[in-house]
Amino acid sequence: MLPESLGWQGQVVLTVPGARKPVVVVTRKLPEAVEVRMMELFTARLNIDDHPYSNAELLAAVATADVLVPTVTDRIDAAVIRAAGPQLKLIANFGVGVNHIDLKAAEERGITVTNTPGVLTEDTADLTMALILAAPRRIAEGERLLRAGKWQGWAPTFMLGHRIAGQRLGIIGMGRIGQAVARRARGFGLSIHYHNRHPVAEVTEHELEATYWQDLDQMLAHMDIVSVNCPLTDETRNLLSARRLAKLQPHAVVVNTARGAIIDEAALCDMLESRKIAAAGLDVFENAPHVNPRLLKLENVVLTPHMGSATFAGRIAMGEKVIINIRSFVDGNPPPDRVIEGVTT
Ligand code: DGY
Repeated sequence: MLPESLGWQGQVVLTVPGARKPVVVVTRKLPEAVEVRMMELFTARLNIDDHPYSNAELLAAVATADVLVPTVTDRIDAAVIRAAGPQLKLIANFGVGVNHIDLKAAEERGITVTNTPGVLTEDTADLTMALILAAPRRIAEGERLLRAGKWQGWAPTFMLGHRIAGQRLGIIGMGRIGQAVARRARGFGLSIHYHNRHPVAEVTEHELEATYWQDLDQMLAHMDIVSVNCPLTDETRNLLSARRLAKLQPHAVVVNTARGAIIDEAALCDMLESRKIAAAGLDVFENAPHVNPRLLKLENVVLTPHMGSATFAGRIAMGEKVIINIRSFVDGNPPPDRVIEGVTT
């Protein structure tokens, strides 16, 4: 019999001397330093060739893992959670967004879910700002033209875009990332407007000179650039619907570094194709990694492959957060980044 004691939620503590190491299944390849540390601390099962797990592989993983470490590329739906063995008590997501995990099913099964907030804020805000600059200034279009050998030299009316300074930026979702975007945008002379479930603290609003719009429709009608920075939830799915997109002005630019399904992508294509809005900068897509072919054809869209948090430092910090969450949990303590807490059974 292995030595056991009970932790924070009555779960078996797996780190008492002599106890077996917890089995941690990691679904994607992580930075080397993170994988090595995981091997040292846990019985870690790594994904050496980094192939996205099939549903069958996910079902097999949850049948034996004590801890599952998924990413946004895994669909942890109710069926996967139902297939989990009784030993699975923690899903320690590598990433901040948890829309790919059925949280209700996890909660019902007594599985705790954690994420990695905070450590990817600045990187994601940088990429958002890059798209806020790139779309109105036609940077990707200019680069494509030059590489195609079509540049014929400077001309007074060539490649004209829209000035950034003095425009109104409407941020949807004023959490950590939204605020980090606002700080950067102020440096570029944009005025800050935002829509959120609740206004942010007065001191933050004051610091950012930000204007709160309770009514999203009204905000959209008055903005030059709109940046989507909220999580994908039941409430925010399709938030920028065809009806709402129609509120935007013809010179408006839409930027999305959050999740594709927050925008009605087909309606966005309609608006871009018919020039009812000027441009878009998109890092996320409704059916990623499949990108709507209509978007690929458009010159007035800057497209990046979900790389908001893709920095070496960011991904290592995300891995460290995952490890801290697992360590806390298997030590019998509440993990710091709990999205939901499994119910003690
Ligand atoms: C996040 O952390 O949510 C990133 O979008 C990658 O999943």
